[in-house]
Amino acid sequence: MFAAFIKKRIVILKSPFISHKNTNRLYSIGVQKILESLRISSIISFTFREAVNDVEYKGYLIPKGWKVMPLFRNIHHNPEFFPHLQKFDSSRFEAAPKPNTFMPFGSGVHACPGNEFAKLEMLIMVHHLASQFRYEVVRLENGTQYGPLPVHLHGFNWW
Ligand code: HEM
Repeated sequence: MFAAFIKKRIVILKSPFISHKNTNRLYSIGVQKILESLRISSIISFTFREAVNDVEYKGYLIPKGWKVMPLFRNIHHNPEFFPHLQKFDSSRFEAAPKPNTFMPFGSGVHACPGNEFAKLEMLIMVHHLASQFRYEVVRLENGTQYGPLPVHLHGFNWW
């Protein structure tokens, strides 16, 4: 799924060493892939907020003191905002998603302050995994298992 990214990355970064300048380029060619990965397979499943007063929402009462948990997987797999939601399509992120339809790092004043750092870490990790190892799926049949995060049914061989 990272094939196109890896191809471009190999052109830009011929060695495993990443300079600061190349980090910026790596970010610009790869960040949409990271966002789509986080959409398909959100690392954190949910956050929660406590109602500080009684709140009425769409005919429901959320009593003061109760907690509300937005489930990121459900939010990120809403076909209204993400058509063909099972398809890995990083071009979805060429335009910014509508507010509160995509929140792998939470939302509002307590949103993750480490989100940019985390995205960069993921890109650098993918760069090293792609430039120093090779992979093949263990068996050809397609499939995903949830444990609870989705992984390929029989995993990968790597060397
Ligand atoms: C892929 C990696 C990461 C993911 C998916 C992630 C996700 C999240 C989420 C969902 C929250 C809760 C936000 C909310 O309730 O609205 C959070 C909070 C937080 N994250 Fe991250 N995070 C990641 C990496 C990091 C890193 C690298 C740092 C620090 C360097 C960090 C620091 C924090 C802190 C301090 C909070 C608490 C913020 C607050 O309560 O005000 N996170 N993160």
